[in-house]
Amino acid sequence: MQIKDLEFEKLIDSAVIADKVRELAGRLNSDYAGKSPVLLPILNGSFMFASDLMKELTIPCRISFVKISSYSGTNSTGQLKTLIGHEESLFNQDILIVEDIIDTGLTIEKIMLELRELGAKSVETVSLLRKQPAREKKVDVKYIGFELENEFVLGYGMDYDGLGRNLKDLYRSIS
Ligand code: IMP
Repeated sequence: MQIKDLEFEKLIDSAVIADKVRELAGRLNSDYAGKSPVLLPILNGSFMFASDLMKELTIPCRISFVKISSYSGTNSTGQLKTLIGHEESLFNQDILIVEDIIDTGLTIEKIMLELRELGAKSVETVSLLRKQPAREKKVDVKYIGFELENEFVLGYGMDYDGLGRNLKDLYRSIS
C-alpha cells in the first residue's frame, strides 16, 4: 500500500489488535479494582485505541483527552512540551495515560513528571506499541501491547503526514 512517498505492508491484523486490547483491559480491570481512574489519551494518535480500550473496561472510569503542546522555552533546553486540555482537576486522581506508541519515550517521561507534580495520586501509562529506543532506555510504561523494532508504523489511529489514521490494521513502512 502506498501513502504519499512511502510503501507500507500489513504488520498486525485488526483481530489481533482487538485481542490485545481485551487482554490489556483485563489487566487494568483487575489492577484498578476498587478504584476509579481517569483515562488521559494523548491526541491525536491514541483516539482509536482509547475508545476500544474504554469499551472493555468494567471499572468505573472517566476520560479526558489531552494534547501535547510544544513551545520555545526561555531556558537552554529550547523546545519544551506541556500537557494541554485537561478540564477537571487531576489532583489526587489515579491517572492512566493512554498512548498509541512510545518511541524515544521523551514525551511520556515529561508528561508523567508533570502529572505527578500536579498532585495525581498515581500515574501509569498504557501504550499499544513500544519501539526499541524506549525499551533500551527502560522508560517507565507499565502496560504495553506490542513491542516493535525501530520502524515507522501507521493505521489504527496513527498517521503519516496526517493520513492513514482510518485504517483498521497496523502497517509498517518498507521503503
Ligand atoms: P516519543 O516522544 O519519541 O516517544 O514520541 C512518541 C510520539 O511520536 C507518539 O505519540 C506518536 O505520536 C509519534 N510517533 C512515534 N513513532 C511513530 C510511528 O511509527 N508512527 C506514527 N507516529 C509515531
